[in-house]
Amino acid sequence: MDSIVVGLQWGDEGKGKIVQKLSRSHDWIVRFSGGPNAGHTVYHGDTKMVHHLLPSGTDKNFLFIGRGTLVDLETLNSEIKEISKIYKDIKERLFISPYCRVITPIERWQDGVIEKIKGKKSVGTTGRGIGPTVSNDANRIGIRLFDLFDQNHLKEKIELLTTISNFNSSIADELLNQFEKIKDRVVEPKVEGQILFEGTQGIMLDPMYGTYPYVTSTPTIPSFALYGSGLKSQKYGIWGVFKAYTTRVGAGPFPSEIFGETGEEIRKRGFEFGSTTGRPRRCGWIDLPQLKYASEVSDVDHLVMTKADVLNGLEKVGDRALHR
Ligand code: IMP
Ligand code: MG
Repeated sequence: MDSIVVGLQWGDEGKGKIVQKLSRSHDWIVRFSGGPNAGHTVYHGDTKMVHHLLPSGTDKNFLFIGRGTLVDLETLNSEIKEISKIYKDIKERLFISPYCRVITPIERWQDGVIEKIKGKKSVGTTGRGIGPTVSNDANRIGIRLFDLFDQNHLKEKIELLTTISNFNSSIADELLNQFEKIKDRVVEPKVEGQILFEGTQGIMLDPMYGTYPYVTSTPTIPSFALYGSGLKSQKYGIWGVFKAYTTRVGAGPFPSEIFGETGEEIRKRGFEFGSTTGRPRRCGWIDLPQLKYASEVSDVDHLVMTKADVLNGLEKVGDRALHR
């Protein structure tokens, strides 16, 4: 049976760890959404790695970055380089869909500009160019990986994108340089065997089902797994991962947020600092109505609770008086 792993809160539930555990009973680990905004922490032996784009598979899985994933070539190449030190054959097991949207310096710049203009209303994005990449793609002016196979065609596309976005540095050479390193892996694989679909962020950050406008820009719900990977699955189980408390990075509603000392204490004990941006995460109690909503949206079969040990020794859990 295939599996889909998703986060039931605002991300950082420990999906990477659960994917790694489940990976042993699957052949393929597949990313279908998100981009380098994700940060899945995985231990390979004693070595800690934060996976932004590479699926959190381990020693022998085939890895596929499906078309729903936004690819930043520089991040991907540096991740491949890092993990090649541990798994020398990682590149031979990796496949990247040619249909993936490419994050360029233009979208990273636009992300910053939009956040700055929004001022107090900013989302607190990871600054990785996620929103602008999705919107440029929706406007049919974005770059996809397949565009990089043909230099002249790429240059035409970049010219249109730079003109429309008012961006005036050249970006083609750097993109082509980075592309050269992975070019031979950019192909839709023939996928056979058990598939594990690795979700990113959390249900509450889904652009349609989350706390819009304080959300990310690619879907995080399990039903996107097939759409965002282009794969078929006859039978799958859905794993919803949540923490024994709640965290959120960036702005937006957070009903069970804990302020003051207790929040600080949980942040410290749980190492609640963003694995992508290093920002301190907002901490809160577990929120059962929120989890019920996310479980219904995801139609989960299995619930996985992580990091319960962080709450060891606390006198009370979920004392509303603490955050009044
Ligand atoms: P973006 O995805 O960078 O556009 O950020 C939009 C919102 O989603 C911000 O509040 C981010 O902090 C949050 N976000 C994006 N990716 C992650 C993640 O992997 N974990 C936790 N929060 C995330
Ligand atoms: Mg994370």
